[in-house]
Amino acid sequence: MLAIIGGSGLTELANLEVTRRLVVRTPYGEPSGALTCGRIQGREVVFLARHGYGHTIPPHEVNYRANIWALHAQQATDVVSVASVGGIRAGLGPGTLAVPEQIIDYTHGRSATFFSRTDHSVTHVDFTYPYCEAMRQRLLKAAQAAGEAIVAGGTYAATQGPRLETAAEINRLERDGADMVGMTGMPEAALAREIGLCYAAIAVVVNHAAGRGDSVRGVRLDDIGAISQSAMARVRGILDRLAADQA
Ligand code: HPA
Repeated sequence: MLAIIGGSGLTELANLEVTRRLVVRTPYGEPSGALTCGRIQGREVVFLARHGYGHTIPPHEVNYRANIWALHAQQATDVVSVASVGGIRAGLGPGTLAVPEQIIDYTHGRSATFFSRTDHSVTHVDFTYPYCEAMRQRLLKAAQAAGEAIVAGGTYAATQGPRLETAAEINRLERDGADMVGMTGMPEAALAREIGLCYAAIAVVVNHAAGRGDSVRGVRLDDIGAISQSAMARVRGILDRLAADQA
């Protein structure tokens, strides 16, 4: 079954025919909210709003372990994460959609593994390619079917937030090889890998990163809402196609 984790601007899915809402408890505490189960294009889907349905949970306080655990416990096998980002690389301006293929993790202090308990022997997962390639390809195909241009690839820098970055930090991220920056991509992707979920992301560029493009004097937060709203409508179209193709 397909799971969708919605980020800022996507706290519900208008195209989801809701059948039930499930409050799930996990060994790691409470997920960001109830899981919304339903159908898109007749296919079963489970949806979770990463920041809570009222958008009250900041990126560094999201219980990523509980969220991923809950989706896995509900028999999700595949996960699409929808995440807003700032665009660093030229060409990744506001309104651009991307399916990143790499991650650099700058977060700290987050509970980032299922393998920290003493009842586990030390466990490592391979994370050379942090996203599930099968899901990346399905996303790219769904975008094409939906008639939406989407950038195939790019490196996602996960920052701690909740503040935005300094211009110098963005310069450093670019030197490191990052193309876009967001606050929620990690540890979500690593936890999905640890638990065996096929996970990929749609990154939605909602602003130029600090010091770039029209953010050269600062990021105009007031503009983000409108950009996000129209971009998320396009994301919903892609998710429709993705669900329709889901086995
Ligand atoms: N930086 C970090 N996270 C973000 C940004 C940004 O510029 N825009 C949306 N999420």
